[in-house]
This record gives sequence, C-alpha cells and structure tokens, in this order.
Amino acid sequence: MVNLPAPVYFHGKVLYLTLTALLLHLRAMTKKSGLTAVKPTLLDKKFWQNFAKNIWEKKPLVLRNVKSALLEMGEAEIFDLLVLFSDRCRKLNNPEGFKFYIHGFKAEAEDVLQVLPEKSDKTLLGYHARMQALFKDYCLVCDELLTVNSKKQELLTEFTEELYRHVGFPNRFAEMGLYLGNYKKTPFGVHVDSCGVFSFPVSGVKKFRLWSGPYGKKNPGLDRTFKYAKYKKDSQLVEARAGDMVYWPSSEWHIAESDGSFSATWSLGVWVDQPHKEMVAQSLRNLIDTKLGPAGEEAMTSFRQLHDAAGEISELPNGYLKSIEVLQNLSQAELQESFLKAWMKHISLQGFKTLPLKSKPLKISKSAEIQLRHRKALILWQKSLTQKKNFYVSFGGHLLESASPKLLNTIKSLNAGKVCSLKGLYPQDLSLVQALANAGALA
Ligand SMILES: [Fe+2]
Repeated sequence: MVNLPAPVYFHGKVLYLTLTALLLHLRAMTKKSGLTAVKPTLLDKKFWQNFAKNIWEKKPLVLRNVKSALLEMGEAEIFDLLVLFSDRCRKLNNPEGFKFYIHGFKAEAEDVLQVLPEKSDKTLLGYHARMQALFKDYCLVCDELLTVNSKKQELLTEFTEELYRHVGFPNRFAEMGLYLGNYKKTPFGVHVDSCGVFSFPVSGVKKFRLWSGPYGKKNPGLDRTFKYAKYKKDSQLVEARAGDMVYWPSSEWHIAESDGSFSATWSLGVWVDQPHKEMVAQSLRNLIDTKLGPAGEEAMTSFRQLHDAAGEISELPNGYLKSIEVLQNLSQAELQESFLKAWMKHISLQGFKTLPLKSKPLKISKSAEIQLRHRKALILWQKSLTQKKNFYVSFGGHLLESASPKLLNTIKSLNAGKVCSLKGLYPQDLSLVQALANAGALA
C-alpha cells in the first residue's frame, strides 16, 4: 500500500492516518465498483490557512483530485507549449531552458537541440515513442516553460498568489519546471534543494521517495546516492498521478522513482534561500552606490598608518570616515525610498524568476494604442519621497524613473483596464513606454 504522509487534506478537512487508510480503501472501492472518483479538493481560503499553519516548511502533503485552474491544463496544451519553446530554441540555436539527461548524464547543449519535441511528434506520447527508441533512460527538463505563454502563466500566478498571501512573498522566486521521460531515478540521485516543492503530475504515475531534513543530516550517505536500500525503511513513498498535488518542504531529501514507464510532471520550486538580511543589504547597496559617488569607485585606499608597532589598529583611513559621514547624513525619506524602490522592483516579477515576453516586442509610437498584456499584471509605480515631481515605474524586474504627469496618468489608466492612446506623450515618455513593452507589460 502507498505510504501517505499525515495529515492528508480531503474536502478541506484534515484527516489523520487512520482516516487516510479509510480514504485509500474508499478510493480502491470506488475504482473497483466503477463509481466516480473522490470529490475535488478545493484550494480555498480554509485550505491555504491550514496549509500555512500546519504544512508549509513543516511536512509533506499529498492531495488527491485537486481543483485548480493550473491542473486543468492537459497533456495536449503542455505538448504545444513544449513545441513552442523548442521551436524558439532551434531558431536561436540555443537550448537554454532545457536540460536533457541520458542514463543520468547531462547532455551537451548542441546535443540537446537534437532531442527536443517537434510538432511532428503530435503528442507527449509521440515524443516519448521517438525518445524511447533512442534511449532506455532519458529525462527532459524544461524550466520556465510557462513563460512562452502569458495566459498559461496566469494559471500559475493564480496558484502562487494564494500561496504567497498565506506564507509570504518569496525573497528569491518560484520557478516552474516540467520533467518528463522514462527515467528510473532522478538523474542526480537523492538530494535536497533550497526550495519547497509542489509537484503536479500531468501524465503517468509519479513516485517520490522522501526523507525528513533531520534524517538526511544524520545520514550523509544519502547525499546524491542512487543506492539507498538501507535507508528505504525510514522513507515515505508518495505516489501521485494527474490531478493530484504533492508538496514537500525545502528541508526534505527526495528522489523520483519509476519502473521505466513514461511520466510528465510539473514541479513548482519556491526558493527559500534568501534571508531578509540579504534583501536589506541589496537595498542598501543601491543607496550606497548612489550616495558615495566617485569615492565609492576607488579601488585603492589611502592610509596614514596600517597599524602601530604592537599591531593595534586605532584609526580608520579618511575614505571610510567620509563614508560614515555620508551614511549618518542619510534622511528617513532617502532610506524609505531606497527600500521601497527595491521592494517594488522585486515584487514586479510577481515572485517568479522571469515573466513571459512577447516573441516580437510591441513597437511603440505616438499613434499606437496600448493596454495591459494581462489585467492582473499591473505596472507598479510609486512617488519619489526625495524629488517631489518624480515617480518610479516597475515591471518584470525593471525600474524606471520619470517626472511626466501625463505618463503617470497613462499608467493609471492602463492599470484600470483601459485602452490608451499615446498622443500627447513626450518622446522620453514614449521610450519609457517602449521599455515597459519590451519587459512584457503591454499588448
Ligand atoms: Fe529536487
């Protein structure tokens, strides 16, 4: 019997192990009798509250028959996305975004281009048939596949928005990868990542073997191994198929297992390896770059005396004293603005590594009429706290500055869902709008 972690959520309620067994029994009975499957599990407010409190970064979870727009994306749509991404790679002669493993060995970039999905494969299984004829054990990984289609990316955003609302916004980012193939084990063996993982099987049966973080620490022999028979008794084997969702915390050691049959799985990794102190340091870094000016560029430091005869250091070189003065003179507004700008730039990526870009960026001219590419992907802005007329604009990790009230009004109208004419905007406004279009904000 499949060894499921407790608790398992079912119809929004927490069921503990005894009930889990009952649930499995019911599922088996349902299957045998040909009745319809268990009711969908809703990822509603109650679920997310429970998830944030009891599961996130604490323990693994398996959900059956999850009701989520993200999971409604079928094999056919995923195949189309793969072909789109592959065509783009072939055109650029660069397979970046894809990784291909043969018997656990990573293929060279030029070889990856030869094994990508093609339209003539027709389906995921068609692609698999072509690959299986060539390789007994292969694994294709496509990172950020959804960035080729902003509408599909939006399905993911609906999921991550709810997650972030309850567990917080990631200081680094989340990334979505598609793993497919007939590989018997994860190509790099048992491992731990610095990310919490949500796994959504798309095709076939997916099995993950999991060990807790403390257990992995006590058993360093697990690291990157493929031979883990002696540790198996302490593991959990999780089995999932299309419609299910598996989650495990960032500390969990894991490996995917298979009997060699085909499977395809989405994997959303939410990185948790960037602590708040790094965010603060990054925000200050920008401020320091601006405030220190040319003195901040000096590569050599003039000094009077490095240390005295006893080795004691009692004085700072002049350059440092001047920098202390600059830092002491920072106003509350300057500090606030610096942090606010860094935060806005960070959240303008919506918690992802990259946002979808148009294959052909929109050409901006005075006669153009523009609107937001997606109603929920707003162009963020904030007023400057130090230069009253100025404001900052951000989208997709880009930060721009302007002092044009007309441009700000246009941005507000775009965010309100309106189609906007660019007549009346100054040339420098148009270049800023072009930069927003290049970042993927506009349609
Ligand atoms: Fe992993």
